[in-house]
Amino acid sequence: MDRLLIKGGTVLEGELRASGAKNSALKMFAAALLADEPVTVCNVPHLRDITTMIELLASLGVDVVIDEKMSIEIHANTIQRFTAPYELVKTMRASFNVLGPLLAHYGRAEVSLPGGCAIGPRPVDQHLRGLEALGAKIEMTDGYVKATVKGRLQGARVLFGCRTVGGTEHIMMAATLAEGTTLLENCAREPEVVDLANFLNKMGADVQGAGTETITIHGVESLKGCSHRVIADRVESGTYLIAAAATRGRVKIREANPAHLRVVIEKLREAGAKITLTDDAIELDMEGRRPCAVSLVTAPYPAFPTDLQAQIMAMNCVAEGTGIIKETIFENRFMHVHEMNRMGANIQLEANNTIAVVEGVESIFGAPVMANDLRASVSLVIAGLVAQGDTVVDRIYHIDRGYEQVEEKLQNLGADIRRVAMEQM
Ligand code: UD1
Repeated sequence: MDRLLIKGGTVLEGELRASGAKNSALKMFAAALLADEPVTVCNVPHLRDITTMIELLASLGVDVVIDEKMSIEIHANTIQRFTAPYELVKTMRASFNVLGPLLAHYGRAEVSLPGGCAIGPRPVDQHLRGLEALGAKIEMTDGYVKATVKGRLQGARVLFGCRTVGGTEHIMMAATLAEGTTLLENCAREPEVVDLANFLNKMGADVQGAGTETITIHGVESLKGCSHRVIADRVESGTYLIAAAATRGRVKIREANPAHLRVVIEKLREAGAKITLTDDAIELDMEGRRPCAVSLVTAPYPAFPTDLQAQIMAMNCVAEGTGIIKETIFENRFMHVHEMNRMGANIQLEANNTIAVVEGVESIFGAPVMANDLRASVSLVIAGLVAQGDTVVDRIYHIDRGYEQVEEKLQNLGADIRRVAMEQM
């Protein structure tokens, strides 16, 4: 099992290119099951989660062709099976989203209930309610969801009980092939939802309103092939901006989308960063200053993303002042706190572990650490970068799920970081 070995104390400086958004690409792979012709998804990041999704499609008999630039061509019409097994769905929640497209296109699907990051219970009730509203018959047996429909799904009105990204995307995809019009209310407005809607429309779907609370889908009889480039990964860009701010450095991120990171940029400016924006690049410069602690509440887009909460906490650990961070999206998403405290940070959990009060300290110290989720793991890398001495981050397979070439990108910014296999330690 690989680990990351970090010698802390370097100031990050330089440029990097934002990777494509994993959370967009994964849903597009599921959406490809709706088409009668091959679709191509470009700018796909080279990540474990992407490989898992490709394995899942291959297990259904779907032909997947990958070129050297990570353009992925998917031929859904070669499908032979309609069951997504536990072994593949358990490692990644996004794979659950093949249920709706399989059902909408082929009238049946059997998909294991999902796993994913260990960040509290992550129900799928909104997904299942939505599919039922469109006329699906749903049965649960032995941890599998079995869905069937006689003929086509039927357009319906669906009011989501909470702002769910995965749920909004799931029902939006299924409704594209339904008979009649579907009205989705209380939708998630994340950029990845908009990216997916653009992709579906290129396939010939009629989806209006993505990016607002209400999405209208006029069902069509079939969907065709298309080619689509996924948007930049805003969480990845945000992670490197925060890492540079924490180390008092400067970074330019090319091929990024500043419009998707407005609140994050606002918080980094509050932390003391000088930020310059163009249409597709973000430049951050701390001018050597120690960051000021920032307070925030995670909430659905366009508010501060839960996926950057742990990283900003790492910055707060060594910032001037006190930052209060409230997590409202997931329970159990403060697993990094204990590890950061072991490194000498001063973080108190309050209000039933939903609020973290971070008292900035002058310096923290390297230690062996690990975490059980993707963003928590990368936050420990940031903590290692600002710590004095050596940090070993264990269980980095979590990081490999979501960060393309993480150590290469950080090395290019001047970080002293390397990957080591356990036996080399
Ligand atoms: C969530 C994040 C997304 C992030 C992704 C990966 C939000 C709103 N969503 O998306 O930004 O990229 O994790 O970490 O920040 N819920 C239900 N029933 C459901 C579905 C969801 O109760 O059927 C609840 C969840 O428990 C959670 C909230 O709704 O509290 C948001 O979940 P959801 O947006 O669906 O999660 P993801 O799609 O995984």
